[in-house]
Amino acid sequence: MIKYLKHILVGFFVLIITIAKADEGMWLPQLLAKLNEKQMKSMGMKISAADIYNINKGSLKDAIVSFGGFCTGEVISSKGLVLTNHHCGFDAIQNHSTLDNNYIRDGFWARNNGEEIPNKGLFVTFIVRIDDVSRKVLIGVTGSMSESERQSVIDKNIAALRKETKQESYQDNFVRAFFEGNQYFLFVTETYKDVRLVGAPPSSIGNFGKDTDNWMWPRHTGDFSMFRIYAGKDNKPADYSPDNVPYKPKKSLSISLDGVAEKDFTMVFGFPGRTMEYLHSAAVDQTVRVNDPVKIAIRDKALAVIDAYMRKDETIKIQYASKYAGISNAWKKWQGEILGLTKTNAVEKKKAYEAEFQKRVNTNPIWKSHYGNLLSDIEIMYKELEPLGRSRDYFNEVISKIEIFKIAAQFNNIINAKGKSNYDVTVARAKERLEDTYNEYNAEVDEKLFAVLMEMFYNDQPNEKLPNELDIMYKEGDGNFSVIARNFFQSTELDNSEKIMTSFDKKVTQLSEGNDKAIELFRSLLSNYSERVSQKLNKVQDEIDKLQRTYMQAQMDVFKEKTFYPDANSTMRVTYGNVKGYTPRDAVKYDIHTYLDGVMEKYKPGDYEFDVPEKIRTLYQKKDYGQYGQNGKMPVCFIAMNHTTGGNSGSPALDAYGNLVGLNFDRAWEGTMSDINYDPSICRNIMVDIRYVLFIVDKYAGADHLIKEMNLVHPKKK
Ligand code: ARG
Ligand code: GLU
Repeated sequence: MIKYLKHILVGFFVLIITIAKADEGMWLPQLLAKLNEKQMKSMGMKISAADIYNINKGSLKDAIVSFGGFCTGEVISSKGLVLTNHHCGFDAIQNHSTLDNNYIRDGFWARNNGEEIPNKGLFVTFIVRIDDVSRKVLIGVTGSMSESERQSVIDKNIAALRKETKQESYQDNFVRAFFEGNQYFLFVTETYKDVRLVGAPPSSIGNFGKDTDNWMWPRHTGDFSMFRIYAGKDNKPADYSPDNVPYKPKKSLSISLDGVAEKDFTMVFGFPGRTMEYLHSAAVDQTVRVNDPVKIAIRDKALAVIDAYMRKDETIKIQYASKYAGISNAWKKWQGEILGLTKTNAVEKKKAYEAEFQKRVNTNPIWKSHYGNLLSDIEIMYKELEPLGRSRDYFNEVISKIEIFKIAAQFNNIINAKGKSNYDVTVARAKERLEDTYNEYNAEVDEKLFAVLMEMFYNDQPNEKLPNELDIMYKEGDGNFSVIARNFFQSTELDNSEKIMTSFDKKVTQLSEGNDKAIELFRSLLSNYSERVSQKLNKVQDEIDKLQRTYMQAQMDVFKEKTFYPDANSTMRVTYGNVKGYTPRDAVKYDIHTYLDGVMEKYKPGDYEFDVPEKIRTLYQKKDYGQYGQNGKMPVCFIAMNHTTGGNSGSPALDAYGNLVGLNFDRAWEGTMSDINYDPSICRNIMVDIRYVLFIVDKYAGADHLIKEMNLVHPKKK
């Protein structure tokens, strides 16, 4: 009986430890051997940390790229084929699309290397090695320095370090701060700038369910696209040239055809953008109460305007598709974030953690003298931040959604560069950016956005002293923002791309007198914001950054039993966790897999979000899944407990052996607060099952020449 009880207790104990430690965390690949390998193995991993990160021979990290600096991609063939998400390749796909050759709607498949399409400005970056340079970066830094003094010492140290770093001529390096500036790492990189579009499914597959399904589980999206890295004849990075050849990688991922089952080990390798896991409860509270709601409210309105135009005009739909998706994406995430933070009592949990922190600090005289007032100091600063942060959110959201201000900003840059040595460069850059902006610009949509958003900006901030120009416009338009917008657009030329771009140099001379109404208003909004908000905000933010850096160090000192991972900062990370369903709310349980059956359940003929291509419907009827189906069904997506964030889009999900099993593209709605407070009960990442990707490439697109490049394996049938 006692023996039996002991077993139960041991089992119980192990369970608590794994629950407390597993899953959360975005780890540095070079530290896995020291910090994580043991746990990863206990969770099912069959390879070693040295197979993941090794600077002496090809390892998994050599197959992972930062895709354009905003997503992740992975090399999946010995000929430099790269897999990423559809929404990561979307700009490239959109840029090559016209009404007649609509790759967004119809998809695109190059039949051979010659048909692969170059993409100006697109690049991929490999990480060659990662070095800890904390000591060298922090030489000469003292606690009494102001933030700007500290930063200037650090900048100098970093500049010197970067110069003396040993690397090949075609390599580059950068240094990043970790743990809010308590540690620094240097990354040696190789960047390839000739990256060509190879294939993309139609949006009805690659973005199936669009914004309705975005951030949601159960999900049925084939969110992938394919590119190829081209190199010079020596396999080294080279600018685009028709003579470049497919890149031969140090490592490419093998692809498993065996899928995953509940509890299987998975890890996700990629470039997560930004998380804030170590904030004070006051910061979390402010996000939920102030910042997220303001941003959501403004985007509610912007999205309604753009959506109405997109639905009635095919050209606007193409022009605004990418913008709309971007605005809607964060908008929806913030809503999930509020929901999750509230539901899991994140603020209360943080407060309990802070109470424990304070208790421990008070028992240790040295800690007490360093950290005794830390929590209350932070709280005071967040009180000061609140009104400033709210104004910042209003300003940023409104100004960035009205595009005439984006155009005016380019002319403002030109005006500011007048008489300076960078004038010509500024004009050339402005011209390029304006071309891009005007390509996706519709003045009617913008005027409506101006009317709706300026009304919010003006009326919803009654206590703010806004620029005089706005008051005058308000009076002239009798407080009616449709009239105010009409008057405004009639008195500017910036909404007329032809007028501006056909004789650009002449226009530059003319407009840089600053006497266009849009440029005038933009300049006064900007200077008003600077005086009213940003100068004070920067000071408060500096103070918070400094306190937060101390708080970070303090947490690491005080909670010695905890292994800390640094917040995401767009550097390479590994996260791991088991495949697992979840219970989003009472009586609802989510499975780990979705199938093509679910696509057909959602199918709405001709619908903007839920149409299904005829070929898929036929393949479904015939159950023609080839080697990609499982038990007569076609798997589509699955979820697991990997801790991911924005930037992990396109990240590979690897099995216990390091084979590719999935393509990360999203998180589940209830758990998007993992950026601020990961909670294993509801935080799940969403991946396309790699077999669905292969099925689409092979059976749907008939691009079996791509399948032949890949190394397909059966790890479970060994
Ligand atoms: N939510 C995912 C991410 O954060 C996917 C976004 C693209 N899809 C979309 N329907 N907007 O990037
Ligand atoms: N879709 C996100 C991205 O573009 C990844 C999902 C997430 O935020 O976790 O990076």
